[in-house]
Amino acid sequence: MIAGRGAMQSDYMHWAKTQRPVRFALSSSEVPHFRLDSLPLSLSDLDLDGASHPRYAPLRQAIGGKYGVSPESVVAADGTSMANFLAMATLIEPGDEVIFEQPCYEPMFATARFLGADIKRVIRRAEDDFRLDLGQLAKIATDRTRLIALTNLHNPSGALTSEEDLRAIGDIAEACGAHVLVDEVYLDSAVPPRTTAALLGPQFVVTNSLTKVYGLSGLRCGWILAEPELAERMWRLNDLFGVNRAHQAEALACFAFAHLDEVRAGNAERLAVNRRLFNDFITSRPDLECMEAKHGITAFPRWAGDAERLDALLRANYDTSIVPGRWFEMPEHFRIGLGGATDMLEEGLERIGAALDELR
Ligand SMILES: Cc1ncc(COP(=O)(O)O)c(C=O)c1O
Repeated sequence: MIAGRGAMQSDYMHWAKTQRPVRFALSSSEVPHFRLDSLPLSLSDLDLDGASHPRYAPLRQAIGGKYGVSPESVVAADGTSMANFLAMATLIEPGDEVIFEQPCYEPMFATARFLGADIKRVIRRAEDDFRLDLGQLAKIATDRTRLIALTNLHNPSGALTSEEDLRAIGDIAEACGAHVLVDEVYLDSAVPPRTTAALLGPQFVVTNSLTKVYGLSGLRCGWILAEPELAERMWRLNDLFGVNRAHQAEALACFAFAHLDEVRAGNAERLAVNRRLFNDFITSRPDLECMEAKHGITAFPRWAGDAERLDALLRANYDTSIVPGRWFEMPEHFRIGLGGATDMLEEGLERIGAALDELR
């Protein structure tokens, strides 16, 4: 479940990393891995001279170029995970009030607790298609609120927060003198594509990476977009964790940005087919309820049973995995990842159906 105040760990991340691998891994929330050596890559692209490069400018330019923001607003980090850590550690101090969406991505929440935040929750209800309750947000935000934290697209439901809602959240934050942290690691799988909240105003701080939507999780290429003064503080904080980043990974990330269309080729089409398969599966199952999957890589159906038992049965007898909803504080739900190969998803859904029938 959610880690206690100050706990130096993410229980969910530990659980996710210690499960036995299965063939139909619908617990995964990323597209298939991309082989960089399928591109015209040569060893000379890797700067193998042993040097490291503080704040490697070409990578900041590549990331900034994706959004049309200046490299001064870009901080590179080890994945969205470290980006979230650096952003929160810069923005909040022990005792600061932070408003977190519920349900939420546990490692992000555990980070805020680790940093000693005083946490309030803003709800996303299944019956509202997991839209953030902005009325509630306006009520609970105070002049002590330092940060409002959310994911867009939402993990686990895949819900998109509209630009209108983001602007309203930005207004609430501005009135309190707070920032809004938006984890956009799934945003590039919105349909149609949406641009970053970082362009909506200086109160927005955004994190992202080349992992989930690009299939390059091994590169650990993550980033933060923030106002230059904040970005500078994040770089300085990062000096506590390491001198520089592994330079060959930075060089490979630049190479990936230069070939981004090839890296993501076919992903949007596969996700569209996979979402259709999933939506048909939900329609065929009177025992499951779920909003239509329109965006993203994850869905969060409700089942009036014990999702923990379902996951255990799937792993033991069906070579299949899901994420039980207890990791998102909603034990009557479970998360399904839609990013994998279509035949894998098709077979995985069939196996989930068989396991649900067995538990009926
Ligand atoms: C919302 C969210 N943020 C961040 C991450 C981790 O991203 P990365 O691999 O880029 O560190 C995940 C992974 O599941 C996630 O769901």
